[in-house]
Amino acid sequence: MSRAAVALWQPGFLFTKHISKRQAAWPQKGIALIEFKHVSKTYPNGTKGLKDVNLTIDQGEFVAIIGLSGAGKSTLIRTINRMIDVTEGQLIVDGTDVMTLKGKSMRRFRRKIGMIFQSFNLVSRSTAIKNVLTSMVPDMPWWKVLLGIFSKEQKMHALEALDKVGILDKAYIRCDQLSGGQQQRVALARTLNQTPTIILADEPVAALDPVTAHQVMGDFKRINEEMNISILINIHHVDLALKYASRVIGIRAGEVVYDGPCSQVTQAVLDSIYNGAAIPTAGE
Ligand SMILES: Nc1ncnc2c1ncn2[C@@H]1O[C@H](COP(=O)(O)OP(=O)(O)O)[C@@H](O)[C@H]1O
Ligand SMILES: [Mg+2]
Repeated sequence: MSRAAVALWQPGFLFTKHISKRQAAWPQKGIALIEFKHVSKTYPNGTKGLKDVNLTIDQGEFVAIIGLSGAGKSTLIRTINRMIDVTEGQLIVDGTDVMTLKGKSMRRFRRKIGMIFQSFNLVSRSTAIKNVLTSMVPDMPWWKVLLGIFSKEQKMHALEALDKVGILDKAYIRCDQLSGGQQQRVALARTLNQTPTIILADEPVAALDPVTAHQVMGDFKRINEEMNISILINIHHVDLALKYASRVIGIRAGEVVYDGPCSQVTQAVLDSIYNGAAIPTAGE
C-alpha cells in the first residue's frame, strides 16, 4: 500500500464504503438455516460421534458449542459442510439435504460456508493479502491462478476483508511475521472474502493468549452483528462462550444436553455438560 493510502486509512473506511451495501438484501433472523433431524454419526471403528441430535439454527445466530474434549464438538460442526458424513438422520443446510450433494453442487455449497481452524491454516511465507486472495481461486481460470493475476476489484475486495478485521495495515506483511492473533484475523478475512452465509470455527482461539482470544472473539461478534453471518464456534473456554455468543449448545458424549440462551446457563447446566469436572475458562 502506498504511503498516501496508509495516511488516508481509518479502521472501517473500506468496509463501510463497500461491504455494508450488501447487507440489506441478506436474509433476516428467524429463518431456519441449519436443521439437524435425528442426526447420528458412527465412525467406521464403531465410535459414536453424535447421538440423535436435533437442532434448528436460524440465519444470523451466534452459537457457541461447548463440552469436554471428545464430546463431539468437531464432529457436530464438520457435518455441516460435509467434512464429515452423517450416518443416520437428516441434515438440512440452507434448504439443501447435505447428504444429496456431490461434485459441482458440493463445491458450490461449500463456497457459502467459511471454516476457521485452531491452527489458522495460512501459507506462512505469503503476505496477508495473498492469503486472503486464495479464497477467490475456485472461481478463477487456471492460467490466472498459475500466474497469480488478480484484478483490481479482487484486490480491493481482499483489502476490505482485512479492514473488517482491523489489520488492513498488515496487508503486505508475510504471515510468518504476524502474531497468532493477527494470523487468525487473516484467516477470518480470507473467510469473509468468500462472502459466506455461515462461518464454522473449530476452537479458533485455543492457541491464543487470553487477551488475544478476547479480541478475536470480539471480531466474530462484530462480524455476526454487522454482516448477519451465522456463526457456529466450538470453544473450550466457557467464559468466552458466555461473553460473546448468544446461544449455547452443550454436548456430552455425542448428545445435546443443553440448548438455550447464555443467560440461562447455570452452574447446574455446566456440571451436566462437563460431567462435574472443572469448568475450563480463559480468564482475563
Ligand atoms: N475419524 C475418527 N474415527 C474414529 N473416531 C473418531 C474420529 N474422529 C473423532 N472420533 C471420536 O468421536 C468422538 C468425538 O470426537 P470430536 O468430535 O473430535 O470431539 P471434540 O471436538 O468435542 O473434542 C471422540 O470419541 C473421538 O475419539
Ligand atoms: Mg474438537
